[in-house]
Amino acid sequence: MTNFLIAPSILSADFTRLGADLAACESAGADWIHVDVMDGHFVPNLTMGPFIVEACRRATKLPLDVHLMIEKPERHLEAFAKAGATNITVHVETCPHLNRTIQQIHSLGCKAGVTLNPSTPASAIEPVLSLVDLVLALTVNPGFSGQEFLPEVLPKIRQLRGLLDAVNPSARLEVDGGLSSATLPEVQKRGADVFVSGSFVFGHPQGIAAGIRELRACVA
Ligand code: DX5
Ligand code: ZN
Repeated sequence: MTNFLIAPSILSADFTRLGADLAACESAGADWIHVDVMDGHFVPNLTMGPFIVEACRRATKLPLDVHLMIEKPERHLEAFAKAGATNITVHVETCPHLNRTIQQIHSLGCKAGVTLNPSTPASAIEPVLSLVDLVLALTVNPGFSGQEFLPEVLPKIRQLRGLLDAVNPSARLEVDGGLSSATLPEVQKRGADVFVSGSFVFGHPQGIAAGIRELRACVA
């Protein structure tokens, strides 16, 4: 039986009370904390860096799942590893030497992930599927929380699960963008087993714990 993981994205947290929001995630049974790093170049928004990862590391025992939406990520891997990242995920679109970048992440003692934009085909990451610990499929164009889920990505999620089953069945297949109790079952049906959520969890009218419980109920 698959063990499904919920990964709240702190991009939607209240940064005036980040420690309290992280504690609420942890006590509500979140599995990973997802940290969205954006550089204002690869994606239009600017967000956080190793400094915030280090603050999260002090505030929670949960694994920190760092999603790098930045150009030249290899320049910053060491800083994120030192700050306490558990998983470091890079975009194939930013990595001309993807094989080397994955090796670098592993040599820093972190789990390595590779991710792809909605318009990037699964074939772009096929050569590294046997090397990674996780694959992250974006179901929005990265840059902001609260965007609408793109259903046209669904066939690619099924395709990625099939490719992983053939060469690396223990790798996680994570989905990020526009997940809610309505869209999560669609991606789970196609083989995803880690679910990132920003606005649904942190913007839930009954609070963070209710948001996490509602997503968990979809896969229970
Ligand atoms: C999108 C980020 C996501 C985002 C998810 O660029 O990678 O992690 O914060 O937020 P929601 O769940 O609101 O789409
Ligand atoms: Zn993300």
